[in-house]
Amino acid sequence: MLFNKRITGHANLILRRGRVHRLDYLRCVLTAAAAQADHIVVTGDITNLALETEYEAARALLDGLARAVEVTVVPGNHDIYLPSVHRERRFAHHFEPFMRSDLPQFARDLPAGPFPFVKLRGPLAIIGLSSAVPRPPFVSAGYVGHHQLEALAQLLAHPEVARRMPVLLIHHPPVDARWRAVRLRDGLVDAEALRHTLAGLSRGLVLYGHTHVRVRCHIPTAAGSIHVVSASGAALDHPDDAVRAGLNEYHFDADGGIDSVDSHVVDPSDLSLRSTAIAARRSCL
Ligand SMILES: [Fe+2]
Repeated sequence: MLFNKRITGHANLILRRGRVHRLDYLRCVLTAAAAQADHIVVTGDITNLALETEYEAARALLDGLARAVEVTVVPGNHDIYLPSVHRERRFAHHFEPFMRSDLPQFARDLPAGPFPFVKLRGPLAIIGLSSAVPRPPFVSAGYVGHHQLEALAQLLAHPEVARRMPVLLIHHPPVDARWRAVRLRDGLVDAEALRHTLAGLSRGLVLYGHTHVRVRCHIPTAAGSIHVVSASGAALDHPDDAVRAGLNEYHFDADGGIDSVDSHVVDPSDLSLRSTAIAARRSCL
């Protein structure tokens, strides 16, 4: 199975993913992000096949970014591609500097790293979750797990977190209206349990990746609502502005309220970034 997973992944890379990822787009996005942001968050996937050479190249890129701006990372399913990668903690080995927690007592020691971690930055509590687990070929679903969710509930109740705006980073979508069979193959298997853990919040922001399309939606809670926004890839080539490489830009007020959410996409004609709208939906998928 392990052999087949990388074979199918490599075939996918050659036949599809390899054709649509462009290094010049990635450089354009990273340069703009480093120039504009106080803090860059990456919600995976960082690699395609979780090869050591991919990890090393990605680490070098992120180290370059981190010289200009703080960087935070959570893993995607491609970053924890095989059980051996998971077991040998290869992602944590390479990316631990971008996942350091200010409240490490709440982090569970998972193979992907210490999750949930939190960075307390001004009015924000930036919380990293891991939904990346190794799967058989043709399955890319994520799973947070009850140990991590239990720790997340405790973390959210900590006074230093509770008085801030929680910004959660996760690779898989927390809201997904696709057929159950599709969710089990490609979604977040325990999304409902995650939403239940967040149900006591009056506000929050969840940022995710995985689906390669920029959309935004809300999770209503008893006391308010949580914004959910997805990012596309940083290197993807595609005719649709909602999919092509770009970045999302978030501004917060002094209390952590969201001032604005803007999206910028690479213009293929001159490799500049231009503004684009993020479609608002009832459900993100
Ligand atoms: Fe993914």
